[in-house]
Order: sequence, then C-alpha cells, then structure tokens
Amino acid sequence: MSAIPVSLLQQLREHSQTHLLSFWESLSDAQQSHLIEQIESIDLERLLQCWKSSIHPDQPDAEDRAEKARSPRNVIRQPATTAERKLWADATAAGIRELEAGKVAVITVAGGQGTRLGFDHPKGMFPIGPVSDRSLFQIFAEQILARRRRHNAAIPWLIMTSDATHLETVDFFRSKAFFGLDPDTVHFFQQGSLPALDAQTGQILMIAPDQLSLSPDGHGGLVQALCHSGLLKKMQQQGVEHFFYHQVDNPTVIMVDPALMGFHLQHGSQLTTNVVCKTSPTERMGVLVDLDGQTQIIEYSELTADQAARKDVAGQWIFWAGNTAIHVFRRDFLEHLASDGGQLPLHVARKNVAHIDEKGQLQQPSDPANPNAIKLERFIFDALPLAQQTLIVEGDRAREFNPVKNKSGNDSADTSRAALIRIAEDWLRRAGATIEPGTVVEISPLDALDAEELAAKLQCGTLRFAQNKITAD
Ligand code: UD1
Repeated sequence: MSAIPVSLLQQLREHSQTHLLSFWESLSDAQQSHLIEQIESIDLERLLQCWKSSIHPDQPDAEDRAEKARSPRNVIRQPATTAERKLWADATAAGIRELEAGKVAVITVAGGQGTRLGFDHPKGMFPIGPVSDRSLFQIFAEQILARRRRHNAAIPWLIMTSDATHLETVDFFRSKAFFGLDPDTVHFFQQGSLPALDAQTGQILMIAPDQLSLSPDGHGGLVQALCHSGLLKKMQQQGVEHFFYHQVDNPTVIMVDPALMGFHLQHGSQLTTNVVCKTSPTERMGVLVDLDGQTQIIEYSELTADQAARKDVAGQWIFWAGNTAIHVFRRDFLEHLASDGGQLPLHVARKNVAHIDEKGQLQQPSDPANPNAIKLERFIFDALPLAQQTLIVEGDRAREFNPVKNKSGNDSADTSRAALIRIAEDWLRRAGATIEPGTVVEISPLDALDAEELAAKLQCGTLRFAQNKITAD
C-alpha cells in the first residue's frame, strides 16, 4: 500500500473531498495510482464554484440574456431572387476552390451518450439507411469519400469520441474496413471527462472505490482535446485552414458544404454557423441571437415558453434562427482558443447519477423531480462571442437538418429515415425517373452527392434506375 501524497490530502481537505479516499486501504497499488490520477486531473476550485452557483442559480442572468437578445442581423438567408442565387453560386465556387486546395478537414463530434435515443452503442453506429440499414458513420464516410474523389482532395476526418464511445467506435470502423477510406486519414481523438457532484453537498460522486463518477465534458471539450491529441498541429502541418464541424446525429448534413465554406471565406469569418427556421417556438434547438453586440447562442433550456414565442415589430419570431450545430471554424481561431487554455465556460445540469455510498453500496437514484447530482459540460458554441468575426448562413431545412435524437416522435429514426427517402425520391424525379408508389428508395453518397450528379450519371448510363433500384453499370 502506498502513502497518500500529502499535497493531495491537503487539497482534498481544503475542498471537503476527503471521502474520495474512504476506501484507500482496500485498494491495490494499481487502483490507488488510478484514483490519484483521476483526482489530480480535476480543477477542484472551479468545480466547486459551479456547484455553489447551482445552489443559488443565477436565474435573473439567464432571463436577462433572453430579454436583451435580438434576432441576428448578419444572416445570409436562403436565396430567393436571381441575384441571390448568383451570390450562392459564387460562394459555392469559392468553397470548392478551398476544398480542391486541400485546406478543409471534417470534425465529427461523437462523444455523446445518446441517452434520449435509448441506443446502447455509440450513436454513429445507429442503422439509419432506409433500405440498406447503413449506419450514420457509413453515410458520413461515404460522403467524405465521394467528396475526396470529386475534388481530388485529402479532406482528413477527425472524429471526437469520449471514454463512453471510444473503443466501440474504433472497433466499428475497423470491422467495416473504414468504409473504404484510407485508415491513415481518419483520426480518432478523445475528449476529456468531468466528475458528477452530489447536488446537496458538492461532494464528488464515486461509482467504485477507485473510480470517480465521470462523464464526457461536453462538445466544448473539443478545443482542449484537439490540442492535446496533437491533431491541431498535425492539421496545420498538412495545410488545413478550416474545419467543417457537425454532430453525429444528422445523416442529411451536407458534408464540407461548399456554399457554407465559400461564405465563410468571403466574409473572413472565424466561426460560421448554419441555422434553419425553427418549426415552433418550443422546438428543442438553441437559437442564434445578437446579444451585447455579439453573435451568441441561447440554449432552448434557457428560454421560457413566453420568451421563446416572442415576436418582433414585424411579427416575426425573435428566436427563429435554430442552431443546426453545423459550423465552420478557422484553424487559427481554434489555435487561439487553445492557447488561452481552451477552457470554455462550464454549464450545470441536474441529473440522476448512480454512485456508491459511504459503505460502498451502489445507489441508483431515479426521482426525476429531485435529481441527486449535477453534471458539468462545456458547449462549443460558447466560442462564438470569443470570435472577432462570425457569420450566420441559413440552410435548407428539409434538405440539411433531419437529426436522430429521440426514440419516437420528432427528430426520431422514423422522421430521419423519411427525410432520406424524400430526398432520394426528389433527386430521382428531378432526373426524370418514375418511382412506383409504395417503394422505398435510398441513394448512397458514393452514387450521388446531389441531384445534379444523379441526373448526370443516369443520363450517361453510369447508373441505372430500374425496378425501383439504383445500380451501377
Ligand atoms: C444540440 C445543441 C442545440 C442544437 C441541436 C441541433 C447543445 C447543448 N445544444 O442539442 O443548440 O440546436 O443540437 O441538433 O449541444 N457530444 C459530444 N460530447 C459530449 C456531448 C455531446 O461529442 O460530451 C455530441 C453528441 O455526440 C452529438 C452532439 O454533441 O453529436 C449533440 O449533443 P446533444 O446533447 O444530443 O445535443 P442536443 O440537446 O440535441
């Protein structure tokens, strides 16, 4: 048995956390080292500040933010006129040039635990292809492969995982031979984790005698994780200037969207965000706003129902601009954030968290009205007010935003699959094909990335559509 390092003990005493060592004497040397390592990686001071503010919630501040917020002014809306379509075409051409120059990489954030969906694996493994059961990861991989071929560009793919998703994700890619991508061009990196605290006492919860109750530190953990993994440096060495960022839950994201990329370049933006009109004020989407002279996001949980439904003098919802969580970051902006420690603010959420009690017995609290713990997370969009130059671009909601979040109802596998079918039918009809009623169609990104590519391939015979199936000749 090793002695407890004196400085550690002192620190734990100062912060009333000595319970973490309650089982010390029963632990093996390896378990003791493991426990020390976990404790030493925690910024106790900061954690406890968050706990204190959770007991005296800064509610007026949250309300105040919503009261002061205005609809975002600097938004490029979907094109409605010939002149606007020309602007979009020019932006698309600029984005394509950047892709061809090899200056763009993709970041997929895939560290979340997908609790709402009730899927027991990393969400990216979820089978979503309406005919093929392709997983979300496969759809992204095929989009990236198709883009690489089309633009003859490297387009490295960076996938952020967490303790909860890392091993299974990497195994999945291996078992699928990386979906045809060169494994050297797919980089997994792991985000950090943060402990849950007892909501009443602020004590760190433990899940085993040598194990704190840890969970992923939120997608805002990206900045530190990218830096610590060495990938930020590696991408700089490979000539990458921009990161196309998206969440693992949306199979209809337009990977490395050239139009979004083009506007981002033309406006010298450090952080560009894609938005869509919310379908109802209560939809669970964060909203882009102007606040204190900056672009910011107010999360859906921060708005009261009244505030969310508020309209401006023109009768438009103030909080219309839903965050699709599709962003483009300039690499040097992320480097700047990382050089500052990469520490975005911590957000507090009350949750039920399993833990062991002082006797080492497992407790499984489940009262939804009175969660036992607070969990802490960082949000990547807290980088928005830290940027000098930001931009918002409106996407085509039906085409680009169809996430899988819930078991049923809105934003479920059913709605997302239905969107994939609708998009495939639309492309086929525009190419002149007739689809028999009652049949289900799906298009692999390797066959076509858009309606134009599908039409061209059907016309020249590279692809055939017969008996409601697309086949390559
Ligand atoms: C998120 C946004 C919301 C936006 C909506 C669009 C937040 C807090 N809110 O809501 O503004 O309108 O998406 O779909 O993000 N993830 C990690 N690591 C983590 C936590 C999450 O990688 O520690 C990833 C998940 O794998 C997922 C994404 O982040 O890809 C979104 O997480 P989720 O918690 O599902 O966000 P939403 O509540 O849907």
